[in-house]
Amino acid sequence: MLTRRSVLLGSAAIATAYGALRIGGARARTAFATKLPIPTLVDARAQGHAIDLVARASAHEFRPGSPVQAYGFSASYLGPTLRLRRGEETRFSIRNGLQELTTVHWHGAILPGAVDGGPHNSIRPGEAWSLSFKLDQPPATIWYHAHPHGATALQVYRGLAGLILLTDDGDADRGLPHEYGVDDLPLVLQDRAFHRDGSLAYDLGPMAAMMGMFGDTVIVNGAVAPFARIPKGLVRLRLLNGSNARTLRLGFDDGRAFHAIASDAGYLAAPVNLKDIVLAPGERYEILVDFSDGDSVALQSLLHSVGARSGMPMMRMMQAGPDRAEPVMRFEPDATLPVAEQKIPTKLDGPSAPDASKSARRREAVLEPMLGGMGMMGMMRGGARMGINGRSFDMNRVDFDAKLGTTEIWTVRSQMMAHPFHIHGTSFRILSIDGGSPPAHLAGLKDVVLVEDTVELLVPFSAPADKNHPFMTHCHILEHEDAGMMAQFTVT
Ligand code: C2O
Ligand code: CU
Ligand code: CU
Repeated sequence: MLTRRSVLLGSAAIATAYGALRIGGARARTAFATKLPIPTLVDARAQGHAIDLVARASAHEFRPGSPVQAYGFSASYLGPTLRLRRGEETRFSIRNGLQELTTVHWHGAILPGAVDGGPHNSIRPGEAWSLSFKLDQPPATIWYHAHPHGATALQVYRGLAGLILLTDDGDADRGLPHEYGVDDLPLVLQDRAFHRDGSLAYDLGPMAAMMGMFGDTVIVNGAVAPFARIPKGLVRLRLLNGSNARTLRLGFDDGRAFHAIASDAGYLAAPVNLKDIVLAPGERYEILVDFSDGDSVALQSLLHSVGARSGMPMMRMMQAGPDRAEPVMRFEPDATLPVAEQKIPTKLDGPSAPDASKSARRREAVLEPMLGGMGMMGMMRGGARMGINGRSFDMNRVDFDAKLGTTEIWTVRSQMMAHPFHIHGTSFRILSIDGGSPPAHLAGLKDVVLVEDTVELLVPFSAPADKNHPFMTHCHILEHEDAGMMAQFTVT
């Protein structure tokens, strides 16, 4: 068990490694010299509803002029942005051009387990996965990423991720900017570490196994410290925290406010005025930023103190943000670019308050390290296992069954650390966070929630999953997921 002595020893060891987790590699550079790369837009309709992707290794320039090994989907890093329309069927062919097994999971999509792309949908090297699906859920910024059993963290770290814009062509009517790459920008934010020669560094040590992999530089769409020219008006930013483990708190260096318009799986009921926003790994927000004053402004990674409320101070410190604001990228308004929208809409078509009265049953999930007999030091020496409700992930064990067409209330608790909790095959609502009602920007459709202590979720099941292709529910700290903080369930 976790003894006081092992806790103290563990804390000391953590303290020495602690410096390595802070952002700060970026500090020396505040020259925003690279133009923000915009992932190619692949519009399903324009492609005759057939999309081909190849997972492959190639050379990518995180900094201009120094290509290094990375992975991408039909790209040197990350993958194209896929624009799908609600209700339209698209065929996909995904070829594995890597030397290792992979899968492609549609994170945030409500799809049958058979095409969900979790660990049971593995694609062997040289083979292709053919599938087709249509999405019938509200417009949202969802994403896709590799999800192979036990190797998700490293493959995503190397670049196997991309965005999906699910649309109903209604954004003009909503008064929202929607010109991709002009006033509607995708921003995939990820922290990465680099070796001296510029290549991607990934720490496989016990520290990363326990805390997750933390890099010292926050990159955007695969570029270090980029800048973007944007119109002198309202601009929509689609933010994804694609980091393996780092929770980000984002804001602007001049303190300007912005409006959140959508969370993970759809629009909010109305825009929410904020000065900063927290994104745990896997979370998305769409925000509107007003650049009509014409000033250049930097997006920053800000101080925060996210961590388990019950956790040790040292663990809290390790999950916290940078010790001072770190610039991530710069926006440069350009008066020659067309301004489509000037006004923040007053209302959006997000969901009204959740109704928990018809829920079929309650479930509990406790996210915890599996200390067993080894204590903290044992964990740090390696072999760290993570679990949910005292069990580590087993691909051959279905943990529970939910009834198709029902809604459940889940109580999720974190132990030792804050964990971003994700459920496949559904969009859920947050009923409460640590006993209180969620703030407005967390009150919409979600598929990841940062659990610092206890959250209550209302989870509907509208997509089926059988025991051959069950859904996953897991911590979105990818090293925790790979270490077993994942369960699987059927919906029948
Ligand atoms: Cu984004 Cu199971 O993951
Ligand atoms: Cu998912
Ligand atoms: Cu976790």
